[in-house]
Amino acid sequence: MTRVLNIGSLNIDKTYQIERFVQPKETIKALKYEEFCGGKGLNQSIALARAGAEVYHAGAVGHDGGALLNILNEAGVHTEYIEEMDTVSGHAVIQVDQASQNNIIIYGGANMCLNKEYIDGVLKDFSKGDILLLQNEVSNVAYAIDRARAKGMLIMLNPSPFEDELTEYPLDMIDFFLLNEVEGKLLAEASSADPELIVSLLKEKYPNAAFALTLGEDGSCFFDQKQMIRQEIYKVKAVDTTGAGDTFTGYFIAGMAAGLEMKQIMRQASAASAISVGRCGAAPSIPDMDEVKEMMNGRGSL
Ligand code: RIB
Repeated sequence: MTRVLNIGSLNIDKTYQIERFVQPKETIKALKYEEFCGGKGLNQSIALARAGAEVYHAGAVGHDGGALLNILNEAGVHTEYIEEMDTVSGHAVIQVDQASQNNIIIYGGANMCLNKEYIDGVLKDFSKGDILLLQNEVSNVAYAIDRARAKGMLIMLNPSPFEDELTEYPLDMIDFFLLNEVEGKLLAEASSADPELIVSLLKEKYPNAAFALTLGEDGSCFFDQKQMIRQEIYKVKAVDTTGAGDTFTGYFIAGMAAGLEMKQIMRQASAASAISVGRCGAAPSIPDMDEVKEMMNGRGSL
């Protein structure tokens, strides 16, 4: 099976259930507070492992990162590359409103301590035929892209969070983008959120790349220069959407690593992400493959 190396963030998610999002100059009381393991990197590694992929996570935690390592180990992720730094772990402050929507602030902490030597040290054990997965929550992402390309690895980028610096990365070296409609619009520099416009601009801008684009209630699509495959959502009662995109990404890449047919990959990723929407938290909400199969067979109920 193809190996997946994920150089990505590990966060402690401080999650506040609230009536509605706090506004400028306002103080509101939270209805509930919980802490979960999260970080786009960690969530995607867990989804990959629960989907059956062989995944190696590289990144860093602080003194307070024990739970982050535990959840990865329990899921079967290889954690030998993760370093403990003399600082705090990354964390996220997440508001979840009564409509199950969220907004998120992240603080990088140890995630921003990955230097070029560290990345070289990890990449030396990987080569052509292996997949490198990246998001935009750790330091030196551009360097990792450049070095992995020189080795001939297949590079998959989830351009999230989408911030200005990301447009300066060597994005023409990316083989596969996995992104939502907001990131798609920004990456395409589209004048509207019209999915057809986004798709055509992305194909024009990155002619050698393939894309998995999630469109919220409108499902998701895979496309490259040759084909377009659409997938509807599995309808569930939403509880917390945090980590749903990461679940989609992890299951999607696991399907690719296992050599599945694209329609099957899309179904599986979509079912997995629907299950995660029906549960609280990021990493804890990610289903295993048996639950995903039940959902695809119409037996999943939430
Ligand atoms: O995609 C969800 C994740 O974004 C959360 O787990 C949070 O840590 C932020 O990285």
